[in-house]
Amino acid sequence: MSVTIRQIHPVFVGEVAGVVCRRPLSAEDVAAIEAGMDEYAVLVFRDQNFTDEEQLAFTRHFGELESYQTAGHIRKQEDQRLGPGIADFSNLDKHGNILSDRERVWFFKLGDRLWHSDSSFRPIPAKYSLLSGRVLPSWGANTEFADMRAAYDALDARTKAEIEDLVCQHSLIYSREAIGFTDMTPEEIAAFEPVSQRLVRTHPVTGRKSLFLSSHAGAVTGWTVPEARMFLRDLTEHATQREFVYSHAWRPYDLVMWDNRATMHRARRFDRNEVRDVRRTTLAGDAPTVEQIA
Ligand SMILES: [Fe+2]
Repeated sequence: MSVTIRQIHPVFVGEVAGVVCRRPLSAEDVAAIEAGMDEYAVLVFRDQNFTDEEQLAFTRHFGELESYQTAGHIRKQEDQRLGPGIADFSNLDKHGNILSDRERVWFFKLGDRLWHSDSSFRPIPAKYSLLSGRVLPSWGANTEFADMRAAYDALDARTKAEIEDLVCQHSLIYSREAIGFTDMTPEEIAAFEPVSQRLVRTHPVTGRKSLFLSSHAGAVTGWTVPEARMFLRDLTEHATQREFVYSHAWRPYDLVMWDNRATMHRARRFDRNEVRDVRRTTLAGDAPTVEQIA
């Protein structure tokens, strides 16, 4: 078995052949996939029908799983449908029934349709996310990705100089506020305390710079909120022009793996009366992007 990767978008994204993700990988395969991630930032693996345990085992080839004491959502532990290490991005409750459109958990999930980078609201944001499509609705539900390296490269010199050392504040509160969901408990608000992130990141392997944008970003240190929000909105509009965007049309058992340090993504609409069962594993980042003030 040997890994081959074919670029499927003009600026990023590779489709991988020659890998059966549920089988153990050789060191050469792991190295080839990592090199592909460094180059393409998003990799698509087709026909990977695997269990949650096999998805976890595949994920661990590329680092440590992300694990936090505080939740990154408002769904309570006892209401989880899936086991540890697997994040549930379905529209199902713990019994496998479709979530009501009046539930807070559903409102919260809708925020994933805004452009974001996973765990940018964490002091150490995520490295890779791996999303497995198990059951997909008959219409819609694409996942879109935007290349934040290409977006950075396309900025003019003055903007690049201006943003080089800017620091943003990220919180789940900001992204949910953007869709009008502000009904959070004091405990949730405390758990979603904003964290600082650099606006310009440098990839640890390739040295390429990228825009570290996310709808979780709601403030720029030292700026007024209106100025910051307007600037972040402008940058996001720049960064998500169609030339930088790949829209993934899911087939059952696709696995899509992306580098959160170099890309943003968003979910797209689907018929909420149909089941969408997609499951994510997430790899921890190495370090904060800025020194966090306790
Ligand atoms: Fe996400």
